[in-house]
Amino acid sequence: MSVINSTDSLEEIKSNVIQLLNRAGNDRRSAFRFIILNTVANDYPNSRYVVLRKFERESAELFIYTDFRSNKIQEIRNNPSVSVLAYDKQKKFQIKLGARAVIHHQDELAYQHWSALDGGKESYNTSADPGKQVDTLQDAHQMKNAFDDRHFAVLVLKVSKMECLQLNNEGHIRSFFDLDHNQSSFLVP
Ligand SMILES: Cc1cc2nc3c(=O)[nH]c(=O)nc-3n(C[C@H](O)[C@H](O)[C@H](O)COP(=O)(O)O)c2cc1C
Repeated sequence: MSVINSTDSLEEIKSNVIQLLNRAGNDRRSAFRFIILNTVANDYPNSRYVVLRKFERESAELFIYTDFRSNKIQEIRNNPSVSVLAYDKQKKFQIKLGARAVIHHQDELAYQHWSALDGGKESYNTSADPGKQVDTLQDAHQMKNAFDDRHFAVLVLKVSKMECLQLNNEGHIRSFFDLDHNQSSFLVP
């Protein structure tokens, strides 16, 4: 079952994609729960899977949790322009987003998300910095004594561009949405 049909208008496509992202933020089984976050690193782009924790429909914002010490934070500080990629294999549907990232660390928003976080707090509580080279797996898994929110960060990605591609036997359907300027268009696939 596809997400988009050839009879759908651009408005319908846009609202379907927004709906999919919204679902992904609420439903662990959604194909778009795991998304690829791309940042600009020094000499090459850097990518990694992250969990889409929440999508705010009105502001078109994605929420991601991470360790403040991880590489992506420094990359975003250097350049807040990021992109997101996701694909639903069953529905043969790809989403590509262009966004600006804002880092929330030790502020009200980060605290609210930390307080509501149910499990998984060890992800933000290793003794050593994520990405650090260590001699043993034990060293890698060494936890801080107290599980606290010192290294917990929330990334809020404000989407400005959205592109999607529905693979389709009768002709792929590719479309583009500029959310900042409220413009949309079909694209040659
Ligand atoms: C399925 C999956 C989900 C992941 N979710 C997150 C996540 O929500 N946040 C996060 O910081 N890292 C997550 N990771 C780990 C990252 O992919 C990455 O290894 C880590 O964040 C370090 O990235 P960096 O050094 O580029 O910052 C996930 C990995 C996988 C495979």
